[in-house]
Amino acid sequence: MKKALITGLSGQDGSYLAEFLLKKGYKVYGLNRRKAIAGLDNVNGILHNKNLEIVEGDLLETSRLNMIVRDIKPDEIYNLGAQSFVPYSWINPIFTCDINSLGVLRMLEALRSYSPKSKFYQASSSEIFGKVLETPQHELSYNYPRSPYACSKSFGFNITRNYRESYDMFACNGILFNHESERRGEQFVTRKITLTVAEIYLGISKKLTLGNLNAKRDWGYAPDYVRAMWMMMQHKKADDYVIATGKEHSVRQFCEKAFQAVDIDVEWKGNGINEKGINKKTKKVIVDVSNKFYRPTEVDILKGDASKAKRELGWEPEVSFDEMIKKMVKNDIKILEKDL
Ligand code: NAP
Ligand code: GDD
Repeated sequence: MKKALITGLSGQDGSYLAEFLLKKGYKVYGLNRRKAIAGLDNVNGILHNKNLEIVEGDLLETSRLNMIVRDIKPDEIYNLGAQSFVPYSWINPIFTCDINSLGVLRMLEALRSYSPKSKFYQASSSEIFGKVLETPQHELSYNYPRSPYACSKSFGFNITRNYRESYDMFACNGILFNHESERRGEQFVTRKITLTVAEIYLGISKKLTLGNLNAKRDWGYAPDYVRAMWMMMQHKKADDYVIATGKEHSVRQFCEKAFQAVDIDVEWKGNGINEKGINKKTKKVIVDVSNKFYRPTEVDILKGDASKAKRELGWEPEVSFDEMIKKMVKNDIKILEKDL
């Protein structure tokens, strides 16, 4: 039975990946850091699976990571654990880099010392392209990170490639563009939108307040993206791959689609901080903009070219942008209705 270690088990991707690997017959070890309240909601459905083992540990703690890798000697390690919220990286930049940069290095050193044959996947990010110099972005596009988070991920990307080249380790980078789902954290813009749209639909909230409506992202569906991680690890040689849909949409367009999922049409009036989204039927303001959600430096557009992953791995996304939004809104309505 193949053994996989996942860091970031409790997160969006970690939970989908664990389910995916369990279905493939793996023994899955999930790294989890202690919290006062469990916080394992995303993995509730698999917690009792005998092939899932929770391993207590933290990407900040070198000796514990060494011990875990030495004792388990996993066939595959998926390093998904991170401080993943970009705005928080300006509030706590050193903490962010300790987890997202040195955490990667700690894992790679643990592997090199105790299990050099383990395959390693690093959760790299399209944020490394930042202030993009070309669109769409591909594996060799210039790195121009725009936040401490993006800088930390750029280090993680480079050190992973360097260990592959220096020590002939199987270490690959998935340069994943934004991917969302019903399990997306509530602070990220997509989930914030779908949750508030569900609240407005149910009469719990009146308005959605956002930041930069013009930002464009290449949004895909998380379960499609964890499949890509696994495919990279099964490939004959380790390499770096962009995973993306190749289509970009603005935050404003995401909003429109989410409201359409509950039969509300939005019309836009004004610009920038004064822009409002108005319910066409009732004429009420249902979206407004606040400076609070703007960033010191913004990533205006991300759009990925995943042709290498398609060509070499046979990977393609299955769930469309529209389908994903409908799933998210529907699920948020279901969650909220339970408490009504
Ligand atoms: P997420 O939902 O925020 O999950 C992050 C996970 O990391 C959580 O399980 C969290 O555990 C864990 N973690 C945080 N600090 C840790 C530490 N010090 N030690 C061990 N674990 C720690 O993120 P996600 O969306 O699933 O993303 C997974 C990975 O892909 C991240 O590395 C992210 O940066 C990267 N990425 C994500 C996207 C995307 O669009 N989703 C795109 C590109 C790259 P707690 O429950 O304890 O907080
Ligand atoms: N979070 C948030 N909240 N973002 C907003 C808001 C708001 O109210 N209003 C507008 N935005 C804009 C942000 O300025 C940004 O341009 C865009 O929406 C997306 O923001 P997030 O959903 O927070 O994601 P992100 O693109 O910064 O980062 C995500 O994707 C990266 C991959 O490109 C995270 O998952 C990262 O961990 C990941 O690496």
